Amino acid sequence: MLARSAAAVAAAASAATRPSMASTLLRAGPTAGAPGGRSLAAVAKKDLMPPLTVAVTGAAGQIGYALLMRIASGEMLGKDQPVRLQLIETKQGMSPLKGVMMELEDGAFPLLESVKGTSDLEEGFGDANFSLLVGAMPRKQGMERSDLLSANAAIFADQGKALSATAAPGSRVLIVGNPANTNALVAAANAPDMLPEQFMAMTRLDQSRAEGMIAGKAGVDVKDVDRVIIWGNHSATQYPDVSHARIGGRWAKDVIKDDKWLTGDFVSKVQKRGAEVIAARGASSAASAASAAIDNIRDVHLGSKKWQSIGVLSDGSYGIGGGLWYSVPCACPGLHYTRVKGLPVDEYSASMMNATEAELVAERDAVRHLLPSSYDAGVPLQKLVALKEAWDANDKARIQEASKSLPARFQAAVKSALSS
Ligand code: NAD
Ligand code: LMR
Repeated sequence: MLARSAAAVAAAASAATRPSMASTLLRAGPTAGAPGGRSLAAVAKKDLMPPLTVAVTGAAGQIGYALLMRIASGEMLGKDQPVRLQLIETKQGMSPLKGVMMELEDGAFPLLESVKGTSDLEEGFGDANFSLLVGAMPRKQGMERSDLLSANAAIFADQGKALSATAAPGSRVLIVGNPANTNALVAAANAPDMLPEQFMAMTRLDQSRAEGMIAGKAGVDVKDVDRVIIWGNHSATQYPDVSHARIGGRWAKDVIKDDKWLTGDFVSKVQKRGAEVIAARGASSAASAASAAIDNIRDVHLGSKKWQSIGVLSDGSYGIGGGLWYSVPCACPGLHYTRVKGLPVDEYSASMMNATEAELVAERDAVRHLLPSSYDAGVPLQKLVALKEAWDANDKARIQEASKSLPARFQAAVKSALSS
């Protein structure tokens, strides 16, 4: 099999060096000298760290090409962290993948323990600690990302099942392929043995774009910009929000002093940046997308002082309906993320957040056929509040109206309560 040519070389190289050194040390105990007469202090940390396995789908595509060398060089998981790459492609993609694997071999990356290429999902995701789901069709000029739903969403149902069956316990999955949020929903809903929190949809590229624009406008370094939030969908309805953003510790709004721009051109430019790149390049963004994927996983795994926007399962906070992969600000203390909750939301922000939520609901409804019948899509908090208010007012017509858009089990409960 193709997987074996590059893998065999990498495995042989690795067997000749690192494992034997590590296992000799383990057998000998912590005070023993290192093989070859070197002192223990001279043994690199990377020789003692167990490798992490990273699966990447669409590995021979544009983003894959920009991604793999950087993962191999330690930019994603750390400069001391050995990695094993498991690259997944379609059958047609196996030939270009072979070339990519040769290049990985030729890169002689000290941290790269092995490389495997396959079109078998279970083999590709087997024991993966991190999986980057990139493989999917990109949009062309004139399309919206949601136009890709019919072509791409089914891919993620199969991948969710395979991840659930074979990935390492506690693994993390980042969905990059578009439409990323709804593909994440499809993957998670098809992964019965995993927690929804293990699935993240990538909106980090939008955040980076927004930070770049804010830094440019303020005339500061991008590193000084923090707490820019991307709410909602990785689409033209996303809401890039600077109401909590800081520049060098000061409120971004006070530094920029141009509210018209912040709620006008800035928002629409971030929303449409992907299309702008496609129009200019004739292909969708790739290097910046790969960079964002690396930033996303690195910050979750290694931690960051900055907030990071990630599409995660909505949990009802900010009144966002449950069961959607909606981008929210997250804190990254290391090894995981936690949602930043309780931020004040003004009227303008609320309307923007609702608009992008509505699009995600429509996308979810369009992929119902890919969700297991047992999948509980969650119920928007506002709808439950409307039902409760109608109930408290004892208004039968309003109760019926409010229950109309709720899942069938709610409608049945309301019907039986009204008739009793
Ligand atoms: P590409 O066409 O260059 O590469 C896609 C690769 O995926 C191809 O090699 C193809 O053979 C492979 N592939 C297709 N179906 C597959 C499957 N079922 N399993 C494994 N591999 C499969 O596209 P690209 O530019 O690399 O973009 C990939 C996806 O990422 C697109 O959907 C694009 O819209 C999306 N994207 C998302 C973001 C984001 O911010 N979330 C940014 C840029 C691009
Ligand atoms: C992007 O934001 O650049 C990607 O999602 C690609 C696209 O279709 O815009």
